[in-house]
Amino acid sequence: MDNLYKKMTLFIMNCLTMIENIKKALLNWMDCYMTNITEKNLNIVPFVSVDHMMKIIMKIGVEKILVGIADYIEEDFKRWELFDKTPRVASHSSEGVIELMPTSDGDIYGFKYVNGHPKNTKEGLQTVTAFGVLSDVNTGYPVLFSEMTILTALRTAATSAIAAKYLMPKGSQTMAIIGNGAQSEFQALAFKAINGITNLRLYDTDSAATEKCAKNLSNKGFDIVKCNSEQMAVEGADIITTVTADKQCATILTDNMVGSGIHINAIGGDCPGKTELHKDILLRSDIFVEFPPQTRIEGEIQQLPEDYPVTELWQVITGEAQGRRDDKQVTLFDSVGFAIEDFSALRYIRDQLKTTGFYQDLDMLADPDDPRDLFGMVMRSAAT
Ligand SMILES: NC(=O)c1ccc[n+]([C@@H]2O[C@H](COP(=O)([O-])OP(=O)(O)OC[C@H]3O[C@@H](n4cnc5c(N)ncnc54)[C@H](O)[C@@H]3O)[C@@H](O)[C@H]2O)c1
Repeated sequence: MDNLYKKMTLFIMNCLTMIENIKKALLNWMDCYMTNITEKNLNIVPFVSVDHMMKIIMKIGVEKILVGIADYIEEDFKRWELFDKTPRVASHSSEGVIELMPTSDGDIYGFKYVNGHPKNTKEGLQTVTAFGVLSDVNTGYPVLFSEMTILTALRTAATSAIAAKYLMPKGSQTMAIIGNGAQSEFQALAFKAINGITNLRLYDTDSAATEKCAKNLSNKGFDIVKCNSEQMAVEGADIITTVTADKQCATILTDNMVGSGIHINAIGGDCPGKTELHKDILLRSDIFVEFPPQTRIEGEIQQLPEDYPVTELWQVITGEAQGRRDDKQVTLFDSVGFAIEDFSALRYIRDQLKTTGFYQDLDMLADPDDPRDLFGMVMRSAAT
């Protein structure tokens, strides 16, 4: 009797869970459907939280998202001349920087808020955090509000991998990653998904970071060597990625560590007074950048004269400029991160909302029935 009672209770509980799941799915579907058909809810802006961003990534898959974002970035770099472009607006302090990164293609406007505080990790905080917005240029109304801490890591890695596609030596298989912090796994996976890199040589001054990176990538199809010096990391590498965080000019790579034919993907030097490479390496390299007016202030090339020749990545992508010329050439992608990459990444995420449903409606814009009666709307709110 006891057994029968237990079985019946279990059966009823399973039925209730099933009903609850069907209810949730129906509500979710209704929510998406209503949002799609009631575009008139002008107060509502779709918001992608960190939780939803992680769900989008897990649903689509990290490598597939990196490829998708890379496609959107390449698409936008091909129409580079159409965009409003300006070096990002930076507010520097003794410990870091807070920046705004705006751009527009004439139809859509976008901006990102991002910080860079290298001392943060010691206090249990992240070096980089970010969020971003897309707006309709025609009305000025925001059409997307999103977390961008994770999205920045994805778009940075996607951009690096695009640059390497045009610049790395043919048949590259091995990449050294110096600096194994928050960005490192994303870099590794983008290079695997887009450029077929399967061998990694990891180094960080903090061996715990290398352990973390190796562990996170352990079942992702890489051969991984944990190294105990920069010198060991670069041995046999076709590509060297430097992605360290320091508030000052550091020398992560010296000239003697860079053999001929290498492609360097320099990510961490992205602020005035914050570089990673010895100047002699720059003098030996062909240098590729995102937006010269910004890179000359923030990138490795801040060490060089203002008119030092560099090639813009978008021109390589459109075929107007040459990428890698020969096997001996040292190529350097002096990455600082540019607003169009964030714009493309936000555009990609916006296009995933309908199919994934991973966003929430944010009551973000005051939208009175009579546009001039903002005050009346506030007063009437007391009555409801
Ligand atoms: N170019 C871009 O678009 C872009 C985008 C995002 C971040 N960044 C920059 O990339 C860098 C890394 O960002 P993160 O979020 O991974 O930071 P993080 O703090 O999570 O990781 C940085 C790692 O570098 C290591 N490190 C510091 N000095 C080192 C050295 N001399 N040799 C080897 N390792 C060293 C640290 O121990 C740490 O593990 C930052 O400087 C950030 O500003 C650039």
